[in-house]
Formats: sequence, structure tokens, C-alpha cells
Amino acid sequence: MTGQLRILVLIGSPRSEESWTYRVIRQIERKMNDLQPTAFEYVFLGKLQVPYCDGCLSCVRVGEESCPEFATIGPIAARMDAADGLVLGAPVHTFAVTGLMKNFVEYFMYKRNRPSFFGKKAIVTCAASGGGHRGVLDFLEGTASAWGCDVVTRLGISSSQMHKKRYLQLIDECTSDVAEKFVAAIRAGAYQQVTLNQLVNFRAMQNMTRSQPDTKNYAYWQERGWLEAVYYTDAPTSHWARFMAGYVARRMRGAIRKGNIRPFR
Ligand SMILES: Cc1cc2nc3c(=O)[nH]c(=O)nc-3n(C[C@H](O)[C@H](O)[C@H](O)COP(=O)(O)O)c2cc1C
Repeated sequence: MTGQLRILVLIGSPRSEESWTYRVIRQIERKMNDLQPTAFEYVFLGKLQVPYCDGCLSCVRVGEESCPEFATIGPIAARMDAADGLVLGAPVHTFAVTGLMKNFVEYFMYKRNRPSFFGKKAIVTCAASGGGHRGVLDFLEGTASAWGCDVVTRLGISSSQMHKKRYLQLIDECTSDVAEKFVAAIRAGAYQQVTLNQLVNFRAMQNMTRSQPDTKNYAYWQERGWLEAVYYTDAPTSHWARFMAGYVARRMRGAIRKGNIRPFR
């Protein structure tokens, strides 16, 4: 891909422009611009003032347009759709993702059921003073991946270290690496290799959707041939991952059929 890259950034820190989350992504933006002209557009989730998702699930059952907050969420979804790449950034609060980011992605529950961002590249970042990066990065990566994105790479920073020369040098190296990988993946455009986790998630969604005929999800999956597919796209997969995902899917179907799903302890 030549020309200007369009990147949409979701900032899940209540501290918006003051946040380390934002400042580190700005560093990545500058480095991407050194490689190729890139237009970053920032959405500060704290400024959207959306209430808590009320859990009506009408986005899943009826359609995303029926969400009570569609006037706010719909245009952002359209901007995400139009972007060449997405960045999901959030701080660690109480060893988990911020409520702000969590609430926002709840409005995109329909996209986990009816993913559409295939081929769109994403990166995920987080900031913590000390610990909890892995859980938040895993959550953000899992979210972008469930929407259909290829997550190219991730970066977690420790804000308590951002005054130390050596640490700043390491961050400088990391942001250069992230920028290079992000630009290269968008330019290449090819689907990334699908992981076992993604294949298993696909099979779980497939089992669930097959058991819900006459729903919006079922029609969406049927139209795309996903009810019988191995994965959403023809992205490369390993033979071993396909075999394991098939095994897990059969176990899941068997447990559901026999009614021996057990409480989770
Ligand atoms: C409510 C709250 C909970 C926090 N919990 C954690 C935590 O579990 N682990 C940690 O290392 N830092 C924690 N922090 C510190 C923030 O992660 C840290 O200040 C970070 O830089 C904030 O990111 P931001 O500057 O992008 O807003 C917490 C901060 C707040 C306000």
C-alpha cells in the first residue's frame, strides 16, 4: 500500500491527552510518519460520555443500529472500518483494563459475533506504573482479533520508569520496532497466520451460531459460508492447529449434546 496510511486510535485512559497511553502512541505516530505519510485520528473514550452498556444485547440479536447509543458508537465503528490500521491503548487499573475501555468494547459485542475487520492490522498498547501489562495486552489483543483484525505487535510501558534515561532509550527502540512492524504489515496486506487460539474461538462461535437458526448471526454466517468453514478467511493455518481446533470443537459439541456442561469452579 502506498500513499497516506489512515490509523484510528482508541485511547482508554481517563487522562486523555495527559496520559502515558497517548504519549507513547504519539511516539509511534511520529516514527510511522518517518516511514510513510500517516494520518492518526484519536478517539478519547473518556470524552464520548457514553453510559454503561445496559446489556440489552439488541446489537447482537436485532442489529448494531438498534443500540441505544448508536448515534455515538455507529460513526466510530464507521471510522474504524475506514481505517487501514487500529490502535487500542489503555492503562492498567487494578490489574485489569480500564472500565472506560471495557465499557467501550462492550458496545462492539456484535462484532465478536459478526466480525468484519479481516485484513485490518492492529497494534495494542498499555501503560502501568509497575505490573499487570500481560492481562491488559491479552484482553486488547483478544478483542481486536475477535473483531477480525490481525494484531501485528504489542507494547506495554511502565510509566514509573519514564524519567530514567536507560528506560527511555529502550522505549525509543521499542516504538521504532512497533512502527516498522505496523507499517510493514499494512503495506504487505497479507493475512497473518491464524493461531490455535483464534481457530478454537472460531469453532466455539461456529458451534454457538449453528445452534441458533433464525437469528441475525446465523444469516450472517450462512451468507459467508462460515457455518461449515474451517476459519473465517483463507488465512494460513498450520495442520497441527487445525487438527487441535477440530478436536476441541468435537469435545465442545459432545458436551453440549450430552448436556454435561459443568459449573465452572
Ligand atoms: C484506579 C487505578 C488503578 C491502578 N492500578 C494499577 C495496577 O494494578 N498496576 C499498576 O502497575 N499500576 C496501576 N495504576 C497506575 C497506572 O497504571 C499508571 O499511573 C499509568 O501510567 C496510567 O496510565 P495513563 O497515564 O495512560 O493514564 C493504577 C492507577 C489507577 C488510577
